Parts: sequence; C-alpha cells; structure tokens
Amino acid sequence: MATDVKALVAQMTLEEKASLLGGESFWFTKPVERLGIPKFMVSDGPHGLRKQDEQGDHLGVNDSIVAVCWPAACATTSSFDRDLIQKMGEAIGDECQAENLSVVLGPAVCIKRSPLCGRNFEYMSEDPYLAGEMAAAYINGVQSKNIGTSIKHFAANNQEYYRMSNDSVASERTLREIYFPAFETAVKKAQPWTVMCSYNKINGVYSADNEWLLTDVLRKDWGFKGYVMTDWGAVNDRVQDVRAGLDLEMPGDTSLNDAKIVAAVKAGELDEALVDRAVENVLRVCYQYLDNKQEGVVFDRDADHEKSAAVEAECAVLLENNGILPLNRSQKVVYIGEYAAKPRFQGGGSSHINSSKVVSALDAAKAKGYEVEYVKGFPFDKDETDEAEIQKAVEAAKNAEVAVIFAGLPDVFESEGYDRPNMDMPACQNKLIAAVAAVQPNTVVVLHNGAPVETPWADDVAAILEMYLGGQGVGQATDALLYGEKNPSGHLAETFPLRVQDNPSYLNFNTSSRTCNYAEGVYVGYRYYDAKEMPVRWAFGHGLSYTTFKIENARVSAPTMDDDSTVTVCVDVTNTGDRAGKEVVQLYVSDKTGTPDRPIKELKGFEKVELQPGETKTVAIEIDARALSYFEERLGDWYAAPGTYQILLGDASDNITACTEITFSTKKVVPMVVGGDTAIGELMENPKTAPIIAEMSKQASSNAPIAMEDADPMMVAMMKFMPLKSLKSFGMMDDAQAMALIDTLNAALKN
Ligand code: BGC
Repeated sequence: MATDVKALVAQMTLEEKASLLGGESFWFTKPVERLGIPKFMVSDGPHGLRKQDEQGDHLGVNDSIVAVCWPAACATTSSFDRDLIQKMGEAIGDECQAENLSVVLGPAVCIKRSPLCGRNFEYMSEDPYLAGEMAAAYINGVQSKNIGTSIKHFAANNQEYYRMSNDSVASERTLREIYFPAFETAVKKAQPWTVMCSYNKINGVYSADNEWLLTDVLRKDWGFKGYVMTDWGAVNDRVQDVRAGLDLEMPGDTSLNDAKIVAAVKAGELDEALVDRAVENVLRVCYQYLDNKQEGVVFDRDADHEKSAAVEAECAVLLENNGILPLNRSQKVVYIGEYAAKPRFQGGGSSHINSSKVVSALDAAKAKGYEVEYVKGFPFDKDETDEAEIQKAVEAAKNAEVAVIFAGLPDVFESEGYDRPNMDMPACQNKLIAAVAAVQPNTVVVLHNGAPVETPWADDVAAILEMYLGGQGVGQATDALLYGEKNPSGHLAETFPLRVQDNPSYLNFNTSSRTCNYAEGVYVGYRYYDAKEMPVRWAFGHGLSYTTFKIENARVSAPTMDDDSTVTVCVDVTNTGDRAGKEVVQLYVSDKTGTPDRPIKELKGFEKVELQPGETKTVAIEIDARALSYFEERLGDWYAAPGTYQILLGDASDNITACTEITFSTKKVVPMVVGGDTAIGELMENPKTAPIIAEMSKQASSNAPIAMEDADPMMVAMMKFMPLKSLKSFGMMDDAQAMALIDTLNAALKN
C-alpha cells in the first residue's frame, strides 16, 4: 500500500522536517527513526553505477563497487535509437534495484555549446531536440524498474571553468530554445523523479536560489512532480532555496543549513508550508521507491557486459571510408597505438565507474581466434613522442596490407572539473598517424574520445571510425565493426568543426571573467555553421554505413496546419546497397515566412530504420506547431508566424535529399505596444496601424503621396527606421500631437 506522505509529514516536528531537506552523508538522505523513515541512497551514474561506501567523494577519486560501464552519452546519443537507450536504462535500473539505490544521478543533458567543455563526454548533444528525446528514453528505461533518475544539471551549465560560481548570461529565448528543451522534453515525456540543479548562476541568480527556474518554469510550465536536489555543494542561500523550490540539499551533513531553515520559520521569514511542500516532494519519491521495492533482483554482470558491447556497436560513427572497411580476416592487418590494448572507454570525474572488466580490440580478436600484430606506437595516457615506436609502426605498416591506428584523447585531456584548452589530439599521435599514412594508403583511424578533435590527417587516411568513449565492451564493438560483423549506424550528435576557432562560442567561452556571455544566442552548433555557410569537418547528423541508402519522396498528410493540429510527414527510405544496415532519417524544419533571426533549419524529428538490401520502408514522423515555433519573448510563449515552412529530410544536416512544405496559420498574435521608440516601418507592417500611418503621411505631405517604388531608397530606409519620437525633432508634430498619435495607434492595436 502506498505510504501516506502527507500524514507522515503532519506528524513531524519542524526540526525533523528540516532534517529531511538535506543529506546525511555523501550519498544518503537522513532517516527519522521516531517515525520509521529510513535513509535512502542515491548514486552516480549516468552510464553505470558508482555506488560508494561511506568514504564517498563526488569526483570519482575513491573506488566504488564493481559495476558495468556502459557507453557514455557522447556515444549513446549518436545511436539516434530511443529503444536502444531505453533498454540500456532498464538494465541500469535492474542494477540499481539489486544495489538498493533509490535514484541514479543522470542523465546529464547540458547542451554542448563548445567542444571544449570538459564534461561533453557525458552530455548528449549540441541539439536540444535530440538530447531531450534520448534523455526521455533513458529515464523511461530506468524508471520502468521503479528507480528514480536525476536529470542534470539544470540549467545552463555548459563549461567546467568556475562552474560553481560562473554566471551564464543568456536571453530567455536562448534558454527556452536551446538550454531548456532537453529538460522540458524529459519532464513532459518521462517525468524524472528528480532534477539536479546546476552550480552556476543564470542571469545573476544561482540555480538553487532561482524561483523562476525551479518553480515557474520547471513545475508550473512543464508540470514536474518530483523533487529538486542540488548538485553536490550547489546550495547558495538555504532559506531562499526553499522558497525558490529547491527541495533536497546534497551532500550531507547539512545540519547547519537545516538549523537555518528552522530559525527562518520561527522568525516568520519562511512559510512553514514551503518546508512541508519540500519534505512531501522528497518523501513522495522516496516512498515511490520503497513501497514498490523489488526484493531479490539479481543482475547478470556478464550478460550486461555483452549488452553494453552490443549498444556500443549501434553508436559508433563511421566518419570516412574510401571502401577499405570492412576488413576481412584474411588481410594482414597491424594494430597501432596503445588504445588497441588499453582502450579509453570512459571519462573522469563523478561518472567514473569501477568496471567489472574491459575488453580491448586485441582481446576481442583473440577471443575469436585471431592474433593481430600490434605496435604500441604511443602511450595511452600522455603526449610523449617515442621516435623508435614511430619507426616500428611505420615498418609494420609497410609490411601489412592495412594499418589500423587506435588513437584518441588520454584521460587527462578531458574530464569533469576543467575544460580543454584546445581541440588538439596529442602531438605524438598526430605525428604517428601522419608517418604511417605516408607509407600505407590503407590506414584506418579508430578514435576514442569524448568530444570533437581536430584531425589534420583526415584527408590522408582511408577510413575513420569514431568509437567515442564506448564503455567496457568497446573492443568487442570495434572488432565487430571493423570486420563487418556489424554495420556502423551511428550519426554525429554534434558538429566536428575544422578548427576550434570556428565554434560560435569561441570568443565567449572561458574568458577571464566569471560571467559567460551566451552571445551567439540560439546559433549553437549546426544552427551557426549553417547560417554562416561555414565548412566543417563533419556535420551534425553525419554517419556512414557499409551500405547505401536513398531518402526520397517526402509528403505531408495535409498541406496546412494550425496551432492545434498536427501533420504527419512521410518519406521513403531504401537500402540501395548490398548489405543489411540501419539508416537515421532526420527531419529538419525551415522557416520560410520571412521571420528574422531564425536558424536555417532545426532538427524536429528522427527515426532509425533497419533495411535489408533493396528493401524500402516508409518512415512517418508527426510534427506539431511547437516544431515550427521559436520562443517569442514579447508573447512569453512559443510562436510560429503564419506562412510557409519547409520540411527537410535527409541522413545528415548537410545531406538533405527530400523536401516538402506546409502552410501554417495561427491565432496567436505577437503583442505590439506603441511608444516613442516604435519605428514607422514596424507600424507600416502591422495591418492595424498601417492605415493610420498612411493617412498621416498623406496629410503631412502637401503633394500627392510618392509611390514607394519611385522613392529614393535612402529616404525609404530613413522613414522605415525612424522612431515616432523623431517626428517631433523634425517639427512634424508637437508633444501633444505625438502623444495623441501613440494613443490612437495603441487603441487601433486593441481592436
Ligand atoms: C557533479 C554531479 C554529480 C555529483 C555527485 C558533482 O560534482 O557535478 O554530476 O552527480 O557531483 O557525484
């Protein structure tokens, strides 16, 4: 039977209530023995468990229990496969049940604003739609096992530099369109049991103190029902935090702050009802877990290991291939680079997992009975050139038919806690790749990294396979992909720019100030590169296969759409090659209404489909008004202007092969309030004010009005941008007449 949380709270003293709003230790909430309330454990996540004992730490320094390390989010998001990630979530949920954890601290969905953010490996995408869909799938998977998730870090936490005090300064439109939707979609589609607020400030207010963020947006706008916890140590003003809607402070011991809550209530500064609200939020989630606890869940670590390898095989992205891949087992192949023997398969910090085992590509080949020649070439953990090793690698490559170089970023290059200074790979690796590629045209590079890198050798090698940080089974997945037992089907969830300087946040990322200006606005990732028509190394959504596909014949279920209707877009996908494979159909929307300041196109749908050679399937994706909309600050709401929208379909943001369109109509009207700064042009564009301005100019002119097409373009522009107040400066009206005109215009707008 479900515990009556309200009745429980009614029996508590104020002190007991306050105590429940903070942790007891690193990973536990506090118990209230008098009422039989136990303590509850939470644990990192997200891509496996980091359950620690009482000697906890939040930076992955101390060991945790042995667990399965699944691929990190940089990889899993590239699968573009909701079902796959949901199943991974289910397996992690079972592991949590077996380990008595009430909540796993993830998914982490902060947008990849810059490729340099040290935690990008555990974040999902530069695109908010993709991140939201994949986060919801993960949450639905974990929570189907009656284990909570904690979507993090809410919000605008996109760098590690001064992450605990940085002020992320962004417009509401930017937040609502880019930095919030992953959280919003997750709340609306999967209702995470908890949300973790970020350390940073947003527009001057710490997330933990931010009532607009935690209550107005999260609960009122989106309908969040669980509890909000702090990131570890993110409390700022504990009493204000309760008012703002922050429920649980972590980690413990929080007794000093508990006492502040008690004192504030006693002093009449904090309404006790707000304390009750927070305690109820926390306990509702805790009892949701406890009341439905599944006793005796066991999980098979070896089976989960195999599953994690299978997940990774769906995530890896084939970036380049001149036909050399897949290899065949009879070819003489040499593996070069220490990652072949010791793969880099996870990132550092709070998501660091004490993996039950790790299988390298060399191990995987051996397990199938193949001995592959191996040359270390360079060390896996530092940037240290060893000329003798390079020579060995060059010789071995010359004598082989194919050289596969296992390259990537050493642990110290990317981690929670700090950002990367650049997008470079270690110089020792670049040097080795260039040397090997110079003697062996069949050079393949396999990458192990959590974020984009610069690849100066990209045009000189035969193939590049991006494995990302692929979890403990990464070697098995690599082996299966290299030899064609699996067909690559991952697509990039982020752009690889040619140079880090090309990234839109470049001049506003980790500047010496503690204020981070999100000056690029909504132009993040491909939204920026598209608008600038800037060449990139690999575009968002890109990913090759060992077969080929054709996406064509886009059509819509209806040519028109309005605020309340939806339209289904259908498109045919054919496998035009000679192998079975999976294609990721991506749907982008492009605003053709002439509304200024909109990205060229934005991802609003995707489906992954499996096709046999020659097979055609029809993919159907439903879109609604929100898919066409931007956040209109003047309206305080989502808005799409009436007119034409193109629906673009393809398998990469730079490979659109089918297109259709719809005409949208709306009842929403962007409010206009006329004042001295309102320009004549704006008034001419509005059908309600245009006749008044036309009449005014007619009267003001002693001659017949000049036809616009005959007018001097400079004069036209001057009039268009002239604010009403300037009419006074040019002696066209006095103060009283200007006031009267403004009143008339505002009255016309109300009709
Ligand atoms: C991280 C969180 C993590 C928490 C607990 C913090 O430093 O930012 O993502 O869940 O520690 O380890």
